[in-house]
Amino acid sequence: MRNIAVFASGFGSNFQAVYDAIERNEIQAKIKILISDKPNCKAVERAKMHNIKVFSFLAKKYLNKEEYEKEILEVLKAEEINLVVLAGYMRIIGNTLLKGFKGKIINIHPSLLPNFKGKDAIGQAIEARVKETGVTVHYVNEELDSGEIIEQVKLDISKLKSREEIETKIHEIEHMIYPRTIKKVLEDLNEKSID
Ligand code: GRF
Repeated sequence: MRNIAVFASGFGSNFQAVYDAIERNEIQAKIKILISDKPNCKAVERAKMHNIKVFSFLAKKYLNKEEYEKEILEVLKAEEINLVVLAGYMRIIGNTLLKGFKGKIINIHPSLLPNFKGKDAIGQAIEARVKETGVTVHYVNEELDSGEIIEQVKLDISKLKSREEIETKIHEIEHMIYPRTIKKVLEDLNEKSID
């Protein structure tokens, strides 16, 4: 059994999708802990509802990123985490976590990377008037939204009328693609038998 830590800062619909896929036995893994920099966010509420342990913190109470990441790293080690899944975690992962979990941190981003990195990728796509956008799941490295791509799904937005419609479709894709990519990544980890 592989142990997952989900990092989230907001609504937590992707956290929920992963949790539900595990409940349906589509992924052989356990979400051991939810890590959040927003103690009152909906994702934290969801985790508590499902009796999943929560580690939440306020970044401003620490001297710097290294300080809170050291603490997170200890928590991840104590929980024997095999894979870190970022799901709307609004902070850039620093060296402490990147080194501690090398090749074992993945992220989901609402665009076809390398297009529209960073914040409000959906808004950026609308602004650029592209006909097509989508969702990317990728490994996390030291550069924002730039690690090796694991899977991408395209979405034709040329006939969609509002931002809301685009967001709904993007989230539908996310909730489908994240569980299956996590399953694949865990299988790859098993093959390499990396702990
Ligand atoms: C998603 O659009 C994800 O791609 C991005 O942040 C959003 C998180 O949504 N990284 P939710 O909190 O999982 O509902």
